[in-house]
Amino acid sequence: MALKELIKQAIYSNLTTKDKTVKGKGCTNDNHQRLSAGVEDKEMDNLRKWFSDKLALGLGNKDLMEKPKVLRTLDLDGIVDYIKSGNVQNIITMAGAGISTSAGIPDFRSPTSGLYSKLCGFDLPYPEAIFEIEYFRKHPEPFFAMAKELYPKTFEPTPCHYFLRLLNKKGLLLRHYTQNVDALERVAGIPAEKLVEAHGTLHTSRCINPECRKEYDRKWMTEKILSDVVPRCEQCKAVVKPDAVFFGEPLPERFRLVEEDFPNCDLLIILGTSLVVQPFASLVDRVPPRCPRLLINFEEAGNEDPVMVVLGFSCGLQFHGADNFRDVAWLGDCDEGCFLFAEKLGWKDELNSLIENGCESEDSVETGATEST
Ligand code: OAD
Ligand code: ZN
Repeated sequence: MALKELIKQAIYSNLTTKDKTVKGKGCTNDNHQRLSAGVEDKEMDNLRKWFSDKLALGLGNKDLMEKPKVLRTLDLDGIVDYIKSGNVQNIITMAGAGISTSAGIPDFRSPTSGLYSKLCGFDLPYPEAIFEIEYFRKHPEPFFAMAKELYPKTFEPTPCHYFLRLLNKKGLLLRHYTQNVDALERVAGIPAEKLVEAHGTLHTSRCINPECRKEYDRKWMTEKILSDVVPRCEQCKAVVKPDAVFFGEPLPERFRLVEEDFPNCDLLIILGTSLVVQPFASLVDRVPPRCPRLLINFEEAGNEDPVMVVLGFSCGLQFHGADNFRDVAWLGDCDEGCFLFAEKLGWKDELNSLIENGCESEDSVETGATEST
């Protein structure tokens, strides 16, 4: 492996391990933001050059230094023009809890409405313990109590989910990677082969006894959750856990699709996530170096990692740097962002009709963005 790659991995994995103290209130993103705010651009540039010279890292990637003109403007209009140009065939979307909040499902880290702010009554050592597999094995009760309290009344996809489906209908969606376990993408009609549910799903559940692993459906689990009992396996009496991936568990097999999808991506759209949980967060670095990246979120997320910047590597999203030629942040509500996006693309009526018809209508995939714009 090249030295450059080794250094990158070593530094980055240290940081994420340390910062994976999503325990307590501190989180990766906060740390990054605090650091970047304290270092002036010029000093950063000097440091970067110094490291580049000392380590002979070959930062002089001339292509990138010349700021390729992939987007006419660094805003939503620039992204829309890029799509309309007809050169975009493979869009990857990455999502988090923010795309489901308008369906009544809380996100995790929003200060007053987020799930982690509502867990004081559960006597947890720190909020994220509720999703740690080791803690769950010993104390499953808080998870199920929380699940009951926050159980959504309905599972209705949001306009944002339907926008994702529309991208697929247009033949533009290479894959949708989601951290959400609510399965609303499935309900919205995005086909299973287009989905990677990176943190699993609540759609199915399984006995945690490795010798048994009996599967249960959502209806079975819902009844248990709503009747205040810790679900026990009918075969072996071990606890039954939803197939959501807990901290300390491996990601699903399908996550391997990252390897073949991301090198082929020509537009990355990130929606409703704070981008603090690894390895999902660092997927933004897996697209080709010229691939535009659009974030639709209330707040900026996934900002560049300042340590890596000092070393001259691009790590994370770079909205403000003078070198930015491809990252766009549209800050606001995901649904509003998707409506605006659809309108600018000339897809407004189609989006509205998908929302109106819900999951009933079948899509026949159109090909080529230009045909329908
Ligand atoms: P977070 O709660 O960390 O982040 C949600 C992001 O969406 C925040 O930046 C919010 O500001 C933003 N947001 C919320 N509602 C929005 C809306 N209507 N429009 C626009 N933005 C909105 O949730 P995730 O990033 O999904 O993992 O969290 C990642 C992982 O952390 C989860 O999958 C879960 C959690 O611990 C596990 O439990 C394993
Ligand atoms: Zn069992």
